[in-house]
Amino acid sequence: MKILVITGTVRKGRNTGHVAEKVAEFFSEHHEVEVFDLKQRDIPHMEERLSNAENPPEDVEKFSELVEESDVITIVSPEYNHSIPGPLKNILDYLYPEYKDRIFTYVTVSRGGFGGLRALSHLHDITIALGGLTGPSMPVSNVDEHFDQDSVSEEYQAKMERFLDQVEDYHSKFSQTI
Ligand SMILES: Cc1cc2nc3c(=O)[nH]c(=O)nc-3n(C[C@H](O)[C@H](O)[C@H](O)COP(=O)(O)O)c2cc1C
Repeated sequence: MKILVITGTVRKGRNTGHVAEKVAEFFSEHHEVEVFDLKQRDIPHMEERLSNAENPPEDVEKFSELVEESDVITIVSPEYNHSIPGPLKNILDYLYPEYKDRIFTYVTVSRGGFGGLRALSHLHDITIALGGLTGPSMPVSNVDEHFDQDSVSEEYQAKMERFLDQVEDYHSKFSQTI
């Protein structure tokens, strides 16, 4: 399976960066993984979809390539003001046909106790509008107690394992129907 992990915030001091790194590291022990970290990219505000762009931004073209090569997209996103960060919505809006029948999976991140469930709900709506399939999710609550630069708690190590099992299961069932 080829998995594209999107790191969905550019905030300085973001906890989501640690989560995305740990998820990508763990997934890459089992599958081919690419990471698209918005903080490492130069993505202008979307003025038109990539398919209509006369001078497409280089990093948006790269994003499009990675989406097309992937079997599964894992969006790692914090919850900001009950939704997802603007830069994440911006990059998602650039593409449309590229997402057809793509499997989306989700890791939502919060310092509170609800694991970014409102961001997750918005991501479900958005990725349905993009023509994707809404796959499994792993909400992360109390992120600063479980993830840092160097480590993951035992609880979330087990949750990541279960999440990957669910992603593999979903992919094997739905890839036969796509
Ligand atoms: C602009 C902003 C809005 C936020 N809104 C929410 C929210 O609606 N719900 C929530 O659970 N946490 C919210 N948080 C806190 C995040 O849960 C917290 O920052 C967490 O570490 C994930 O975001 P990070 O990757 O930016 O660190 C917000 C944080 C910021 C910076």
